[in-house]
Amino acid sequence: MRGGSGAQQVIAMDFSMEMLKGAKEYCNDVDNIIFAQGHAVNKNLDEGEIDVLLERALIHHISDLESCFHEANRILKSNGKFIIQDRTPEDCSLRGSTTHIRGYFFQKYPKLIDKEVKRRYSSEQVFSTLRETGLNLIQEITYWETRKIHEQIDQLKIDLLNRTGRSILHELTDQELEDLVEFIEQNVEKLEPIKEEDRWTIWIAEKQ
Ligand SMILES: C[S@@+](CC[C@H](N)C(=O)[O-])C[C@H]1O[C@@H](n2cnc3c(N)ncnc32)[C@H](O)[C@@H]1O
Repeated sequence: MRGGSGAQQVIAMDFSMEMLKGAKEYCNDVDNIIFAQGHAVNKNLDEGEIDVLLERALIHHISDLESCFHEANRILKSNGKFIIQDRTPEDCSLRGSTTHIRGYFFQKYPKLIDKEVKRRYSSEQVFSTLRETGLNLIQEITYWETRKIHEQIDQLKIDLLNRTGRSILHELTDQELEDLVEFIEQNVEKLEPIKEEDRWTIWIAEKQ
């Protein structure tokens, strides 16, 4: 099987060997992906090598966005596309609903929202940094991505209780997490299956 929406070759990159190992296992029947360790600001790729670069859920980990975008510009071909997917403070601040479960995290624990919003770039910051690094924004899209469909509330509860490692939920004590799960259950209980969606912003830019 081939991955990457028709791409001949895909390079999947992360600076964590653990994450690359998980991704490799997930894609074990795909034959056109190379898994490579690399840093957002130093990808160890040649200049002008890449047609399309996707950075999904990465930029909120990056303190120096300008260096990250300079590196993107360096490795892209002329007219190459740079796609960034992340959450803005507005995406993070949307209220909870029967599909937007994350919103309940912040309704129940407002202390989490400051931390969450602080690590997110605004659309204006992304746009101005793209411009400063010589990349042209051609489109900005808001996008609801299905995270998971939970057939029953119990599946969602187990999922939430195990989501602490790389999630904002690692900020909560075990008791707070249990209380949150109960709060969410009260809000969505009667609506199985639960289609859990997250709101993202996608910026599509082009190398000039
Ligand atoms: C929220 S996860 C997203 C993983 C994956 N990109 C996805 O969309 O599912 C963020 C990832 O960024 C990686 N990461 C964080 N800082 C990085 C950096 N400076 N360079 C490369 N990878 C980085 C982490 O190891 C982690 O796997």
